[in-house]
Amino acid sequence: MIKIKSHSEIENMKAAGTIVAETFELLKEAVKPGVTTLELDEIAAKFIKKSGAVASFKNYNGYPKSICTSVNSQVVHGIPNRNTVLKAGDIISIDIGACYKGYHGDSAKTFGVGKISDEAQRLIDVTRQSFYEGIKAAGSGNRVGDISASVQRYAEENGYSVVRALVGHGVGSELHESPEVPNFGTAGRGVRLVSGMTIAVEPMINQGSYHVNTLSDGWTVVTADGKLSAHYEHSILISDNGCELLTVCR
Ligand code: MF3
Ligand code: CO
Repeated sequence: MIKIKSHSEIENMKAAGTIVAETFELLKEAVKPGVTTLELDEIAAKFIKKSGAVASFKNYNGYPKSICTSVNSQVVHGIPNRNTVLKAGDIISIDIGACYKGYHGDSAKTFGVGKISDEAQRLIDVTRQSFYEGIKAAGSGNRVGDISASVQRYAEENGYSVVRALVGHGVGSELHESPEVPNFGTAGRGVRLVSGMTIAVEPMINQGSYHVNTLSDGWTVVTADGKLSAHYEHSILISDNGCELLTVCR
């Protein structure tokens, strides 16, 4: 069932989204050579709590930390820990969820640590732009497949591949709601988008093949070929004239 949100639900989602965006502003400054992913988690956990929200991922299906930190060939769901020390040249995908008054905001971005290679920067830039290409198609009356096909076309045109095993999703009073929002597919297919739907669009783009594996910790998803991966996600509201980003500072 797809839940169409009321005005007051959307207000709560915007408040949650702002907290997520503000957490990114803090972490963006903290991502430096020498910092551990556990330190990033602690900064985020403290800020989300101080903001009157709850970290959406903590204890979600047993997930042990507040945010996800996925370095280099890690795609998503990397678990912050004291042994992962960032070094210049790394890229790190950070995924943050905050729940405010019962409503979630969910967003992810990939950052370079210190000076990174041109190729790593290009992967980050294409991943971010693939999201924006996708949401150009995210207006009321279009279909989920219009978003999916736009993301896929842009990523593949630029020589990258789209992760198939994980997809975007509806978001609201639950972190993951219907519908699924794949980053690959066929325009004109899938669920019809309606004003008041709230979805998380989240391309995960690989430098090499789209195949991924899950590590024995049960969470960390890595590229099968060991090449780099980047992630970019916002929670968005479908409206009559396009869509609105919910996970932004205002
Ligand atoms: N942002 C992730 C997603 O979009 C959620 C992380 S899953 C968790 O699905 F289990 F770590 F919470
Ligand atoms: Co998500």
